[in-house]
Amino acid sequence: MDLLKKRIQEVGCVVSNGVVKLDAILNHQVDTELVMAMGKQFAERYRPLQPTKVLTVESSGIAIAFATAYELGVPLVFARRKKTPTMDKEVYEERVPSFTKGIVTDIVISANYLNQDDRVVLIDDFIANGDAARGIIRIIDKAGAMLVGVGIAVEKAFQPGGDSIREMGYEVYSLVRIQSLENGQIELE
Ligand code: G4P
Ligand code: NA
Ligand code: NA
Repeated sequence: MDLLKKRIQEVGCVVSNGVVKLDAILNHQVDTELVMAMGKQFAERYRPLQPTKVLTVESSGIAIAFATAYELGVPLVFARRKKTPTMDKEVYEERVPSFTKGIVTDIVISANYLNQDDRVVLIDDFIANGDAARGIIRIIDKAGAMLVGVGIAVEKAFQPGGDSIREMGYEVYSLVRIQSLENGQIELE
């Protein structure tokens, strides 16, 4: 996606250990025009697959997933990072490690918002090692729902996450792929 590539080249900077900072457009401030365009692109791709729901994990995937779900005319469900006081009793819960934060978190979705009739598109801002995506996929499996596609804004192609999901037999569609973050340079494919 040319607009996303352009914005990454304009505002992205490499921080230590292979992490690119996109706080100006996605991870702190949100470029709403860019995100709506991303939603349109994902929706165009997934509309023929007749999804019933878009899933993501809080927090940075929510804006893009919202734009996609709005375009598709289906609900967005975001997995919570921990059980909230108001959370329903019956939940699907998975433990996932976080590469950038170096911690383990539990992601939770209420059984009320995911079931065997759902055809799910999974959307996220980044895929790095793929732990978050695999966690969500385990939840989709537990709920008996069907995953019809995985849409990622920025795939870090030098990390194994995207290919690990492809090897599971799912289609991963990335708007931009980062080849390398070496020497402080953002190399896009
Ligand atoms: P993984 O799920 O693919 O393994 O990703 P990983 O755990 O490695 O990443 C943990 C968090 O860091 C995720 O956000 C992910 O989107 C983000 N992340 C991974 N690589 C980069 C990067 O190069 N730049 C930026 N800006 N973020 C990266 P999260 O924990 O879900 O946090 P949130 O931002 O959604 O709240
Ligand atoms: Na993130
Ligand atoms: Na994310």
